[in-house]
Amino acid sequence: MTKGIFPVDKLDKIETPFYYYDIELLKKTLDIVKTETSKYGYSQHYAVKANANRTILATIAAAGFGADCVSGNEVKAAINAGFPASKVVFAGVGKTDKEINLALDYDIFCFNVESLPELEVINELSGKKNKRTKVALRINPNVDAHTHEYITTGLNENKFGFSLSSLPNVVKVLKELQYVDLIGIHFHIGSQITEVETFKPLCEKVNELQTFFEKEGFDLTDINVGGGLGIDYDDPNANPIPDFAGYFAIFNQNLQLKNKQKLHFELGRSIVAQCGSLIARVTYIKHGESKQFAILDTGMTDLIRPALYQAYHKVENISSNLPEQKYDVVGPICESSDTFVKDYSLNECKRGDLIALRSAGAYGEIMASQYNLRDIPKAYFSNKLQAEE
Ligand code: LLP
Repeated sequence: MTKGIFPVDKLDKIETPFYYYDIELLKKTLDIVKTETSKYGYSQHYAVKANANRTILATIAAAGFGADCVSGNEVKAAINAGFPASKVVFAGVGKTDKEINLALDYDIFCFNVESLPELEVINELSGKKNKRTKVALRINPNVDAHTHEYITTGLNENKFGFSLSSLPNVVKVLKELQYVDLIGIHFHIGSQITEVETFKPLCEKVNELQTFFEKEGFDLTDINVGGGLGIDYDDPNANPIPDFAGYFAIFNQNLQLKNKQKLHFELGRSIVAQCGSLIARVTYIKHGESKQFAILDTGMTDLIRPALYQAYHKVENISSNLPEQKYDVVGPICESSDTFVKDYSLNECKRGDLIALRSAGAYGEIMASQYNLRDIPKAYFSNKLQAEE
């Protein structure tokens, strides 16, 4: 039997819980991103933080994308998966000397620098290796992303990036540093942004800043506007692929590139979220006073977004077509926040039924923990239903 996108008979033979990736959907998504970006000559660096599963990374690398990394290990994983170092950017507020040296040795494309002390350390470490290093400044454009406070990053007082008011001093310092070349400016205003108009004020700010850098004598070749495009968590079946055409068009219409400048993006969630599901089984149905609980063999350790951000993931009973009943769907972890959904209609659940937690391809597997000493679930792929060891 199949239900929706799920080959239930095959999945039924696999030990739960596990992550299930629809590789055909991922490839279709990558194709659309490629078509849309090539219309304008934009360049795409997949945000590895969203999902660094080996097969997922290799699939995205094979499609010709670059990578956006935020740790030395991400840089290593990206390059091992086939991303060329010349398409790797490295951001993060706390890059250690070890991580900077590693990225320097790989000769990555560019460091997205987030503070003055970091800029000075990159300069010093590059000098020791007798290298000139390309850097972009991550700037807080002070644009409201209208999203969850934990994933808003573009407002002025923030641990990320440079504030607008610090820039005159930063360019002064830059002019004195011998081993770094400023090639661009970088932004990321937040994540899960579903209203593409939200990116308009970002474009306007970029245009303004272009003039500032030009006046200061910098010839910027690269503009990087980060990621942030949201997905439809409510209805992944109706909207498996986000509106990439509308998203890139906003930048094309509102952001003025100068001669030969390249526009870069760092999409994560919108590329991988919808291709992934967390598949679990009902361990028990517990009848409470007025509610019934579907207790699963997966929990917040395998998908932390509901507990951490009050995020909604669609839940489906893929083993059942029985009439719907209401459940609180919960995990086995010793925390009350280990609840996926409350008073939720599902086809009647029985012990052993397979449950799919949808849109779990981004910030799912990669944020898994071993709390309660649980195993990290394995990953399976639609095109070869064998576990990745
Ligand atoms: N670039 C930078 C500099 C970022 O900080 C991020 C995400 C991205 C790109 C990719 O953003 P995306 O296209 O995926 O929205 N764990 C949270 C999301 C944290 C996002 C952090 N930065 C969640 O599960 O919603």
